[in-house]
Amino acid sequence: MIEFRSVRKEYPGGTVAVHDFSLVLPARTTTVLVGPSGCGKTTLLRMINRMVEPTSGSVQIDGADVAGRDPVRLRRSIGYVLQDGGLLPHQTVADNVGTVLRLNRNPRARTRQRTLDLLETVGLAPDLAHRYPAQLSGGQQQRVGVARALAADPNILLMDEPFGAVDPIVRTELQTEILRLQQQLHKTIVFVTHDIDEALLLGDQVVILREGARIAQHGTPSQIIENPADEFVAEFIGLTGGARQLRAKRTANGTVLVDAHGRTRGVLAGEAEDGADGEGPAEPVAVGRRDGRTTGGRPGRPAEENG
Ligand SMILES: Nc1ncnc2c1ncn2[C@@H]1O[C@H](COP(=O)(O)OP(=O)(O)OP(=O)(O)O)[C@@H](O)[C@H]1O
Ligand SMILES: [Mg+2]
Repeated sequence: MIEFRSVRKEYPGGTVAVHDFSLVLPARTTTVLVGPSGCGKTTLLRMINRMVEPTSGSVQIDGADVAGRDPVRLRRSIGYVLQDGGLLPHQTVADNVGTVLRLNRNPRARTRQRTLDLLETVGLAPDLAHRYPAQLSGGQQQRVGVARALAADPNILLMDEPFGAVDPIVRTELQTEILRLQQQLHKTIVFVTHDIDEALLLGDQVVILREGARIAQHGTPSQIIENPADEFVAEFIGLTGGARQLRAKRTANGTVLVDAHGRTRGVLAGEAEDGADGEGPAEPVAVGRRDGRTTGGRPGRPAEENG
């Protein structure tokens, strides 16, 4: 479990990126931080692995303040995927994936085998291992980035707009891949995006932020869609303005998101068990706004204290 306790971050120069942020991120679930550019998402993420230090307040992992952890070790124990993959251009795919394993002094044979296993895990052919990043597609590079982040088998995976740079089709593939991986691996994932569709698709818990990392709303995707807290959220999730009109629909496979054209946009994470009430053009669970507000979210499935 990760917990932010009254965290404030003021950068030198006076920008207050984070005003007073408190949040519990349950273990083994995916929390998505979503909000407009500059609202403080990356700052929040980087405070988890001490790439950024809070001005006041604390970030705790399993009840212990990260300020007491050795920063280098802490970073090696937490997977981190960056927007552009963050691969080292002069190293092969295998060397990129194996970086942390080598730093942790794993035997060479073990590193090689683990690297091949990781490529398979993220859906890459083993013969890509000897290529350089520039010889891969954008989507393949992102998969390598995910494989590298998983190398040391971290409990926590931080993902900062990992699919921001790839085209929409590849992006959809990668999102599906992350859902599949998470079903298998059950990591504590903190995923940052400014794409609300991506947030609703991937998050067990979604946190909508405004400027200064102020929480506009947090809850499960259904809670947010069914009860947007205010106009800001309603607009952000596309319930006003007619642009996207997302609604939730229950099917035998769980709750799916359907857009204004009837196209399924994805399955809501962590909700596959409670929605088996038939197929076909079923009535949507809820559309648009109600008067009630939802601010205290709960994850879609129970969490263990681990990560
Ligand atoms: N090192 C820094 N020094 C000074 N100000 C910074 C620094 N890093 C970020 N900021 C400022 O803090 C605020 C939050 O930045 P942050 O990078 O956390 O936003 P973000 O939500 O990740 O934005 P984006 O979606 O564009 O990546 C912004 O106003 C930014 O200009
Ligand atoms: Mg950012």
